[in-house]
Amino acid sequence: MISERQRFLAAFAGEPVDRPPLWLMRQAGRYLSGYREVRAAHGFWDVCKTPALSTQVALEPLGLFPLDAAIVFSDILVIPDALGLEVTFGPDQGPAIGRRLQSPRDLEAWKTEGLIERLAFVPNAVRHLRQAIGDRYALLGFAGAPFTLFAYMCEGKGSDDFKEARTLLYRDPELATRALTLIADAVATLLESELAAGADVVQLFDTWGGLLSRDEYRAFAIPALRRITDRLHAGGHRVLLFVRGGHHLLPILGEAGIDGLSLDWRTPLSEARALYPELVLQGNLDPVLLFAPIAAVRKKTRALLEEAQKTSQGRRTIINLGHGILPGTPVEAVRALCEEVASFGSSAAATR
Ligand code: CP3
Repeated sequence: MISERQRFLAAFAGEPVDRPPLWLMRQAGRYLSGYREVRAAHGFWDVCKTPALSTQVALEPLGLFPLDAAIVFSDILVIPDALGLEVTFGPDQGPAIGRRLQSPRDLEAWKTEGLIERLAFVPNAVRHLRQAIGDRYALLGFAGAPFTLFAYMCEGKGSDDFKEARTLLYRDPELATRALTLIADAVATLLESELAAGADVVQLFDTWGGLLSRDEYRAFAIPALRRITDRLHAGGHRVLLFVRGGHHLLPILGEAGIDGLSLDWRTPLSEARALYPELVLQGNLDPVLLFAPIAAVRKKTRALLEEAQKTSQGRRTIINLGHGILPGTPVEAVRALCEEVASFGSSAAATR
C-alpha cells in the first residue's frame, strides 16, 4: 500500500499510480462546520497566525474525506499585508487593502525590510501542520501569483474587471514592471520559506490572470512568474500554477517554467495534455457541480477520471476542482466526489 504522500509525489515523478491523487482548492473553508466554529471565535488573521488553529482547520477536510494532500491555511494576501498595505477581511465581504498602488511614491513606501520576519507565521504554520500529518500526506504551500497580487494591490479590493490594475499596465508599464518584480521576489522568498518548513510542492494562484490578453500576460505576468520558478528550480523544488479563466493563455503558460498546471473548469484536460505531455495537469471539475444532485457529481467525476486515463494513462494528473470550493457547498457532494476518486483504482482494476 502506498501512502497518500507517495501517490501525490508519484504524479510529479511521472510514475504509474493506483489512481490519480486528489486534493481540493479551498478544501478548508466556510462550507465546513468546524471551520465556521473556529471563525466564530477568532479573526481570520488570528487563525492564520496561530499554528494550533491553522493546523486544526487544515486537518478538518482530511478527517472527513479521502484526500491525498493538505494545504497550509493562509491567504494569498499575506504578502501585500507584510509589505505594509494594511489588508483587512470584513465580516462576509471580500478583502480590503488600506494603501493602494497608484503612483511611484506608493511603491517606494512598500516595506521590504524585515519582510521575511513579518511572514514567518506562514512557514511556522507549515512546520506545525507537517508535524501533525507526518509523512502520511503530501503538503502544499502556496502564494498568490504576481499579477493577481498586483491586481488586488492596485484595486484595493476584489473586482470583476480589475480596471485600475489593468489601466496601470497601459498607463505606466515601467511602474507596473517594477512592482511586479518586487512582488515576485517577495513571493519567491515566501515560497522558499514554506518549502524549507516542510511543504512538498507549492502552488501559485493566478486567480485574475485570465483577465489579461495573451500579449499582456506574456509582457507582464510571465517574466514575474519566471523569476519565481527559476529561483525555486535552482533549489530543486516543484511549482504548480493555477490560472482562472486562462484557456486563451494555454499556449504560452509553458513559458512560465512551471512543473504543473492547474486548469480551470473551462479548459479541457485533453487540450492541455496535447500541448504539455510532460507537465503535471491538475483539475478541473466545476465547483458549481457540487450544488447538483449527487448522481451528477459522481458521473462527472468518473468522466474526468476516465479522461485522465485516456489522455495520460492516469499519470501526471491530479484530480481537483477548477477553482476553490464555494461557501455553502454541501459536504455530502464533496464526499461523493472524493469517494468516486478513491474507489477508481480498485474498480478500474476490476474491469481490466
Ligand atoms: O485551500 C485552502 O484550504 C487553504 C486556504 C486558502 C485561503 N485563501 C483561505 C481563505 C487559500 C488557498 C486561499 C487563496 C486565495 N485567497 C485566493 C486564490 C484562490 C481563489 O480562491 O481564487 C484569493 C483570490 C484569495 C483572496 C481572498 N481571501 C478573498 C477574495 C477572500 C474573501 C472571499 C472569500 O472567498 O472568502 C479571502 C478570505 C479567505 N481566505 C477565506 C478563507 C477560508 C474566507 C475568510 C473567512 O473565513 O471569512
